[in-house]
Amino acid sequence: MDEDKKTPPAAPPSMPGDAEYDEVLELLQGEALRQAREIYSAEVVAECMAPQNVGRLEPCDGTAVLTGGCGDTMEITLRVEEGVVTEAAFLTDGCGATVACGSAVTRLARGRKFEEALDLTRRDILALLNGLPPSHLHCAALAAETLVAALTDHLERSGATMTANPEGEDHGTR
Ligand code: FES
Repeated sequence: MDEDKKTPPAAPPSMPGDAEYDEVLELLQGEALRQAREIYSAEVVAECMAPQNVGRLEPCDGTAVLTGGCGDTMEITLRVEEGVVTEAAFLTDGCGATVACGSAVTRLARGRKFEEALDLTRRDILALLNGLPPSHLHCAALAAETLVAALTDHLERSGATMTANPEGEDHGTR
């Protein structure tokens, strides 16, 4: 075999530089944001992009971890002083809408009297976020239910008794 007629090895594919990666990333982020704005309200997009109260309060006065029907989980931790929810934080492995709902529900709870916080429902979250698509209403329900469970945990820890939502307000899908 004539060594001179061998096909030269193919050149390795050229790797994009940092600038090209940044450009592609920017395009993808821009496209994702454009799609999100088509589906969600401006409030949901803003809350999701800059969520408040992300994390876990340690120690805390009340906590709960709930898993929604979709399989996503939310954790809320609270601090309560003299009958007021002074701090609230959340963690979730859920969708962007759930991040927005966790941020919204902790913002709603902070600084609120304990009894008033118990009355928060998914409707309050939806009002703050200017709604969610029907396919994501359960994300607001998960956030509201986790908050009430964390408040109830505080009650149990402190030995107090109080009925959540005495009016029978539903935190779920109503
Ligand atoms: Fe599961 Fe949002 S899709 S909580």
